[in-house]
Amino acid sequence: MKVIVDRRPALSLTTDAVIVGVTEAPPKEEALPRNLAAEDKLLGGAVRRAQQAGEFKGARREMTVFHRTDRAGRIILLGLGARPLTAEAIRDAVGDAVQRLKEKGIRSMAVRLDTFVADGVGAEAAVRAVGIGAILGSYSFTRYRSNPSKGIEEAIIALGEAYGREEAKLRLILEAERPVLDSVLWTRDVANVPPNEATPEWLAEQAVRMGKEFGLKVTVFDETKLKEMNCGGILAVGGGSTRPPRMVVLEYPGKGKRGRTIAIAGKGITFDSGGINLKTGEGMADMKFDKCGACAVLGILRAAADLEVAPRVIGVLACAENLPSGSAYRPSDIIRTYSGATVEVLNTDAEGRVVLADALGYVVDKYHPDEVIDLATLTGAAVVAVGENYAPLISTDDRLAGRLLAAGEATGETLWRLPFTSMHREMVKSDVAEVKNVGEPRGGGSILGGAFLAHFVGTTPWAHLDIAGPAWTRKSAARFMPGYQPVGATAFGVRLVTEYLRTAV
Ligand code: BES
Ligand code: ZN
Ligand code: ZN
Repeated sequence: MKVIVDRRPALSLTTDAVIVGVTEAPPKEEALPRNLAAEDKLLGGAVRRAQQAGEFKGARREMTVFHRTDRAGRIILLGLGARPLTAEAIRDAVGDAVQRLKEKGIRSMAVRLDTFVADGVGAEAAVRAVGIGAILGSYSFTRYRSNPSKGIEEAIIALGEAYGREEAKLRLILEAERPVLDSVLWTRDVANVPPNEATPEWLAEQAVRMGKEFGLKVTVFDETKLKEMNCGGILAVGGGSTRPPRMVVLEYPGKGKRGRTIAIAGKGITFDSGGINLKTGEGMADMKFDKCGACAVLGILRAAADLEVAPRVIGVLACAENLPSGSAYRPSDIIRTYSGATVEVLNTDAEGRVVLADALGYVVDKYHPDEVIDLATLTGAAVVAVGENYAPLISTDDRLAGRLLAAGEATGETLWRLPFTSMHREMVKSDVAEVKNVGEPRGGGSILGGAFLAHFVGTTPWAHLDIAGPAWTRKSAARFMPGYQPVGATAFGVRLVTEYLRTAV
């Protein structure tokens, strides 16, 4: 979708729909919102009559459609929910609206910006939120469709009299957001590809292609190299598949000289059947999304390079396919990882931590980063703990954790910090090796997944995002997810971590 900023008033533009934002009025406030006078007059009082009939209340995502009498097209009142208005409410309502307007055959729209500005959401924040909602909400995965259905092709953010004079500045606000949004769309397109095409090798190829385009140094370690490097974790998990595993390292040098180095690791399981500890049919269906952490890392590096963020950023992807076969790893195996630390395998379905052990060990050893962030669809327990709309955050560093939480609030990709203590570290210690891949006792599964990973980052400040819930939108949960995250891969983490890198000093 093309989104542009235009100084003209929305009602004067030729579009299929003019979108007007309305917030929920307190119970006693019955008068028509003053800023709807023009629309009401144009429609011969229909807005007032609809309000009196209780047809629009301004509830979040509510849509009231009027066909215009003065010319072709519609005026659509879009509910933004209770006051105070927030950027997330705008992103959500606009994202939801562009999804639903598609079904009405609407191909172009103009958004009346002044109706999206309120106390706490200035014109700049409103432009940004409308742009994000429209662009991300209109995403669809069309790679395997011969004639994809058409959605809204053009959205005009109409400034009108109120903000027309700020056109140049507001245009720049939107432009500044584009690299991140392009990366989110690109990441979704990679993450949605099914495992028959998206093999570990294919994922590495995407990294190489993207790296070339954005001037990153990309190194791919194939199975021979992984053997030389003693990456026993990635090799063990990938051993059951005929599609060999890969580790990929991407380097963005940073803008400032001698800036900080931030490493970002991602779980790239192209399909997780569970391995010998085979999942049930139901549990397996969505497991092409088990590579979403790695995909997010690619998107973050892409955005970081495009935006030329200050810190040096190292991305590392641990890619393998987890399948059962005669060459698969098995429960009771003991594996030696890159760092030399040994892992007792108790369950082959806890494979994400096993591949990340090598990736984390490698990146810490080779790059001495100032901090490490990892993103992984690591545990079903994360979804049990905090649901689909939050990612558990586990961290050894309060400053890093605080900044990530803040970036989460700013972007709507929200985190919830879980406790992490030395007791949790004890729970993943093994009797026969250094650590075991399933903790005991088993409660707090998402924390214990983190506790395992913590073993491989040593004393480097570290944060782990368990994105098993928000990495993709399940059809059954779609209406509870942000409207700018349609069904399928969301690219969760790309906006969040890019925001962190943008503001990290
Ligand atoms: N990829 C799964 C986690 C997952 C499950 C993500 C559901 C999203 C939705 C992971 O590899 C896994 O299977 N973890 C096990 C760990 C357990 C064996 C300790 C789990 O969550 O059951
Ligand atoms: Zn698994
Ligand atoms: Zn997995």
